[in-house]
Amino acid sequence: MMSYVLGTYARSVRENFVFGKGSYLYTDKKEKFLDFCQGIAVNALGHNHPKLVEAIKKYSEKPWHLSNLFLIHEQERFAERICKLTGFDAVGLQNSGAEATELAIKGAVKYFYSIGKPEKNRILCINNSFHGRTIATISAGNNPKHTEGFPILKHFDHFDFGNHDQLKQKITDQTCAILIEPVLGEGGCKPIQDQCLEGLRELCNEKDILLICDEIQCGYYRSGKFFAYQHAGIMPDIVPFAKAVSGGYPAGGCLFKKKVANSMHISSHGSTFAGSPLAMSLANTVLDVMLKEGFEQHINEMSKYFFERLKEIHQNFSSIIKEVRGRGLMIGLQTHDDPSKLISIFLKNKLITVKANDNVIRILPSLIITKEEIDEGIEIIKKSCQKYKA
Ligand SMILES: Cc1ncc(COP(=O)(O)O)c(C=O)c1O
Repeated sequence: MMSYVLGTYARSVRENFVFGKGSYLYTDKKEKFLDFCQGIAVNALGHNHPKLVEAIKKYSEKPWHLSNLFLIHEQERFAERICKLTGFDAVGLQNSGAEATELAIKGAVKYFYSIGKPEKNRILCINNSFHGRTIATISAGNNPKHTEGFPILKHFDHFDFGNHDQLKQKITDQTCAILIEPVLGEGGCKPIQDQCLEGLRELCNEKDILLICDEIQCGYYRSGKFFAYQHAGIMPDIVPFAKAVSGGYPAGGCLFKKKVANSMHISSHGSTFAGSPLAMSLANTVLDVMLKEGFEQHINEMSKYFFERLKEIHQNFSSIIKEVRGRGLMIGLQTHDDPSKLISIFLKNKLITVKANDNVIRILPSLIITKEEIDEGIEIIKKSCQKYKA
């Protein structure tokens, strides 16, 4: 099919989905698919959650957009709720993950500028991590597939995942922040161990470096806690988040501790669309659902069950599946070879998953998934592995 859309995506799923409900998507031909991708962790409440449908109907009658020159009451409400929930002092609203990370980077550099240390302006990141597609965020990710041909910013240094010696070597007097994903998403559902996060926090304190945890994919309960770094009991200085915030409507933000927030003032940053009344109404609705008693417990129960069932798959198909990893409902099936063929067999069997680096198939279901839906997915995975072997 001829397309006028810029060719920057390898579109592997080409069905025409016209209806969605919870864990399922339905095509124009009335075919039903089990969705373990959920817009790459955006639809944390599944498709068309009744509370979100009700909210968008209600708020579509109110002003959709004002301007950030106006006081936006839903934005104020969301900001207060997320700050009180997480222990941060201020949040800058954004529309996407890359923007949220840009703001995190700007905040870190601006803080040291504001205290008279403008030379402390380098960000240390993990090689082949993922923070977005703007020039600054591809510079942070340092993935050659993303950076090729672009003018990369020179204020970024990198170390390899898990290489503590290299991490220490790369820190200089100019390092202002270390930017990490507590669970690498595109990098292949790789959690950073809790003791490493604790060590990183201590190292940052010792060297007067800000710690930025990118929670864009692993945040909003995806890992089993509201933010994934909370498993380690640490507190970062800056936290960009996005994806699940408004249940499928574009929104994101960046949380700051007071000392950093104080360095960002009028004209330091801004956005036309960010924090609009409509986006923030939906963000408040998502929090209403997620903060109900039992939500977090459900994720942890489902995660335990999912990992147990995937262990069986791993045991039965160890010639295909090398490792099952991840945290909460951010699960990676690492295959011995390129997983594209297996992903396409899943799809033929009406299961949607998503590829990540490191030969990983990502499973990112709705956080309100049921045991029955997990069982259904496991059966499809089993059947597909048998077909793959045949
Ligand atoms: C960890 C992480 N950071 C940043 C981004 C960029 O978010 P967006 O695509 O909304 O710009 C992503 C997107 O997948 C992500 O997973």
